[in-house]
Amino acid sequence: MKNKFKLSNRLNLCAEMVTIGSRITDIGTDHAYVPIWLALNRKIKSALACDIRNGPLKNASKNIEKYNLSDIIKTRLSDGLLNISENETDEIIIAGMGGNIISSIISRCHWKNKKNKAFILQPMKYEERLREFLAENGYKMEIEKAVICSGKVYTAMKAVYVGIPQKIENYEKYIGKLGENNLYPAAQSYIKKQIKNLKNHIKGAQSENLCSLQDYYSEIIEKLQNFLI
Ligand SMILES: C[S@@+](CC[C@H](N)C(=O)[O-])C[C@H]1O[C@@H](n2cnc3c(N)ncnc32)[C@H](O)[C@@H]1O
Repeated sequence: MKNKFKLSNRLNLCAEMVTIGSRITDIGTDHAYVPIWLALNRKIKSALACDIRNGPLKNASKNIEKYNLSDIIKTRLSDGLLNISENETDEIIIAGMGGNIISSIISRCHWKNKKNKAFILQPMKYEERLREFLAENGYKMEIEKAVICSGKVYTAMKAVYVGIPQKIENYEKYIGKLGENNLYPAAQSYIKKQIKNLKNHIKGAQSENLCSLQDYYSEIIEKLQNFLI
């Protein structure tokens, strides 16, 4: 059973960031693939597979039962982390949602400012808003990686609360720390994708005659292009 269960590259990137032996919570679990893979591979102590809707939770329960993991993985109906208490979990995974929704889920959590929790986040869009939110609210990015999955590029990041707002350059909002190390192919693809998005932003700003915004995006593009040389 164990070897047959494979995660997509995108979800695998999140799973790889989990600390071995931790109690995880997967918010917006849908199919519960990440908790299932982690449990089958004996990477975690326990998991809460959570979703805001009953339909996905039913799917999750079916999959969890199929793999005989009901002792390790429990399902729970919860809007974000509102129905999860601080002492139930060590690491929180929020994957497959927009960066704005992920930010909102974290900001509405009553115990978000705890230094012993880690957030593993995989935004599908608005990554720059999420990185800015994390930095401004005192979360330090421990790691960020990019991966190609079915021809598309994704990033996932692990952040911990340190209590001090983090300085973040404007360009870092767009690529996080991906420019810091060797530029492997997925990181290069991600930077290229962000340059393309920024060029579209410039077009939008041009159509509204927002000159300072055009300059702002142009400066970031120039900075990102330097990483690709
Ligand atoms: C696109 S799926 C992502 C599934 C999985 N995490 C992945 O990355 O493949 C998004 C899931 O998040 C759930 N969701 C959306 N907003 C939520 C919230 N505020 N709290 C919990 N779950 C939420 C949806 O019901 C849906 O099942």
